[in-house]
Amino acid sequence: MGSSTRSKPHAVCMPLPAQGHINAMIKLAKLLHFKGFHITFIYTESIYNRILASSSPDSLPCSTDFQFETIPDGMMAGDMVSFFESVRDDFADPFGELVKRLNEPSSGVPPVSCIISDSFTSFTLGVAAELGIPDVFFCSVSACSYLGMLQYDELIRRGLVPPESERDLSNSYLETSIDWIPGMIKSMRVKDLPNFLQQDKIFKYFKDEVQSALQATAIIMNTFDELEFPVLNRLSAIFPPIYTLGPLNLLYDHIPDKSLKNVRSSFWKEDHDCLKWLGDRMPQSVIYINFGSVAVFKNQQLIEFGWGIANSGHDFLWVIRPDIVDGDSAILPKGFLREIEGRGFLTSWCPQEEVLTHSSIGGFLTHCGWNSTMESMSFGVPVLCYPYFGDQQTNCRYLCDEWGIGLEIGDDVRREEVAEKIRELMGGEKGKDMRRNAAKLKENATKASEVGGSSFLNLERVIKEVLGKERSCI
Ligand code: UDX
Repeated sequence: MGSSTRSKPHAVCMPLPAQGHINAMIKLAKLLHFKGFHITFIYTESIYNRILASSSPDSLPCSTDFQFETIPDGMMAGDMVSFFESVRDDFADPFGELVKRLNEPSSGVPPVSCIISDSFTSFTLGVAAELGIPDVFFCSVSACSYLGMLQYDELIRRGLVPPESERDLSNSYLETSIDWIPGMIKSMRVKDLPNFLQQDKIFKYFKDEVQSALQATAIIMNTFDELEFPVLNRLSAIFPPIYTLGPLNLLYDHIPDKSLKNVRSSFWKEDHDCLKWLGDRMPQSVIYINFGSVAVFKNQQLIEFGWGIANSGHDFLWVIRPDIVDGDSAILPKGFLREIEGRGFLTSWCPQEEVLTHSSIGGFLTHCGWNSTMESMSFGVPVLCYPYFGDQQTNCRYLCDEWGIGLEIGDDVRREEVAEKIRELMGGEKGKDMRRNAAKLKENATKASEVGGSSFLNLERVIKEVLGKERSCI
């Protein structure tokens, strides 16, 4: 290897091993690669194999300066608690060993000069401190939900967590006003905070992880200044320097080099036929329905959604993941399938960004995952919100009350409400307002990521001020 290659800065990227977190971090990794970094991107073994199985081999290329490495999956048992316990307890050692192995001259790659860690994988801090290199946290959730998680200690202090009983979760407790968080909108209620409140272990995991960001060298966020200004101001007063680079999908679109275009990270096979189907539809006539990679429902909820969507009278593209029904496969009634013939396209996974940029899409029924939210905003698509868990509740509140591009569907999903809200979104007065707001947000998001925009400049800054700096010791 030539000396110029060995002297490249080398970023090791450690995402939380989950679809949404990986999708966002891989965009950041590609941007840094374009800026001259050597990249090592880390998957767990099972995720590496899953991505390989769901796409072509060139989605995980063996490039000389963008390489993938794996660590074992740990003791995950399929449920969320064991997932987070495994990340916390099982990953630090193999991660540390891997970084040290990369640092050996025989590895043939430049010495590791910085770590980019998901903001919920703080186990990376140890090896970064040992090597004296920056550990920059990448926060792939919204700034508003991150600020919400930062209140967990205060919620305990105020006696709001844990809830007094199971019953609390179905009564006015969830409606309790939370208007005391500096930087946050005043319409927040207990139920709008990232909702791990009733799950002790996960609550504690996130409470600790958010606190650990105090030890990071800097924090990169997938949002843009204008969108979350008061929240970012508040976070900046508490945390190490924050660099907003969002929407990352737009920032990535602005780089001229697409040599890594085929690097994909989908866990499921993408169905590109839906794009052809969209091609035969009128502009803004189709409602797109997708609940991301984690949400699970009861089959009855799916049926209510199904009839609501069908009865709205609008054409639709509905992505139903094979594992979306808790412990079973999704079964939609035969009558439903007959009813939607010719006007509904069902599939199990799609190239979402391409779908959302398609001119035929008029609205998006979403679980409000942060990537979906950023992508929808980037392309000016207003949304119907049906948050499932975690940060999605907070995103939903902001989409509806602050950004004016969202309309919420009640927890207890009913077909009548789904149909009515789709009609409102696609053609009603409120829908028109939302579409105008979405167009404005698209404009702002585009400005932020264009040459000279805040996110564009922040990428230069974080490289100059943090990531591209010489190592302090080796
Ligand atoms: C999870 C959390 O739920 C989310 O709230 C958090 O912010 C990130 O991690 P997920 O539920 O999968 O993510 O939702 P989301 O953040 O929206 O990420 C889904 C990603 O998968 C998006 O990048 C989306 O473009 C992509 N996707 C989704 C597809 O490419 N095809 C699909 O059919 C569905």
